[in-house]
Amino acid sequence: MKKRLIAAALTMAMAAGMMTGCGGSGKPAESVAATAAADAGNTEAAKAEEAKTEASQDGAPAAGGAGALIGVAMPTKDLQRWNQDGANMKAELEAAGYEVDLQYASNDVQTQVSQIENMISNGCQMLVIASIDGSSLGEPLSQAKEAGIPVISYDRLIMNSDAVSYYATFDNYKVGQKQGEYLVEALGLENAAEPKNIELFTGDPADNNCVFFFGGAMDVIQKYIDEGKLVVKSGQTAFEQVATANWDSEKAQNRMDTIIAGNYSDGTVLDAVLCSNDSTALGVENALAASYTGPYPVITGQDCDIANVKNMLNGKQAMSVFKDTRTLATQVVKMVDAVMQGGEAAINDTSSYDNGTGIIPTYLCEPVVVTIDNYKEMLIESGYYTEDQVK
Ligand code: BGC
Repeated sequence: MKKRLIAAALTMAMAAGMMTGCGGSGKPAESVAATAAADAGNTEAAKAEEAKTEASQDGAPAAGGAGALIGVAMPTKDLQRWNQDGANMKAELEAAGYEVDLQYASNDVQTQVSQIENMISNGCQMLVIASIDGSSLGEPLSQAKEAGIPVISYDRLIMNSDAVSYYATFDNYKVGQKQGEYLVEALGLENAAEPKNIELFTGDPADNNCVFFFGGAMDVIQKYIDEGKLVVKSGQTAFEQVATANWDSEKAQNRMDTIIAGNYSDGTVLDAVLCSNDSTALGVENALAASYTGPYPVITGQDCDIANVKNMLNGKQAMSVFKDTRTLATQVVKMVDAVMQGGEAAINDTSSYDNGTGIIPTYLCEPVVVTIDNYKEMLIESGYYTEDQVK
């Protein structure tokens, strides 16, 4: 498992034209990550201590940060989840007495760099960043470090920067694992008499989460591919072949169109599509609606975006991994508050996330599988959506 995930990480690093130094997933990277952390002399305790010290340096927030300005940098408004993340963060930070500078960068790296630089020059005392390209923020983050401004990596890990004090996310490896396990169960792979056909889609190569999503899922289903119980007709199984730039639905749709034309237009049945998230699933579902006439495949997703929940209710998507963005926002606001008060933030993972400078102390929230059977409880009764929104 570890080897495969590390291989996936390396492939991804190469695809992104960089060396991430990332050892892998929630489970896999203990030893690699520990070595890297030791090499960098950068333990969890040291990081937490550093965050604490930074928070009390000259020019940095004084203890009891109420009223302080917090910069929140989000990648894009194009995807529903980031709008929810941004709105939740802003509302919760304001409720806790902070001022908020919330920015979206239209998935453009340079825009995000400028926004962060502006946040620093405008006097933000702490930064919360969901990066577009995890490896492109070195320069503004050096400025943040210089100015004693602590940084929290939000949902996606910022790579190769020692300015990151904490990371808060969902258990990304588990997200992939749950998708893989769902497929095994739904396709009845243990006892299937005939091989089943599957195609694979993951997200943006510059998003470190993809290593975990794709790695977690492949760690479950690779065995069945090796045994011949699962067949990837297109032959596209390598990370760089199945990646989707910017997690773009249209790009996923175009790739699926080509795959259908080349492999499934002669009546060959497509049994399943592993999609790392809902935006890629949506593209796949659009392509299927346009040009696939066989029995409908089992499709996975992540985020429970409204369009995908609707598709789920219409039998066009089997599941989505729900990551309640309210939980993540609450956790991050607690982190901000702890650091602004000159203390240490609560964490529950000190081994999985090495950003190339050492292990980043992390808080992992729990992802949950949502299907037509439990969507009411998870999405409606929990107040995440109204029934009307998903009709
Ligand atoms: C997030 C997913 C999201 C994807 C595309 C990932 O980093 O963890 O929830 O679907 O980005 O925005």
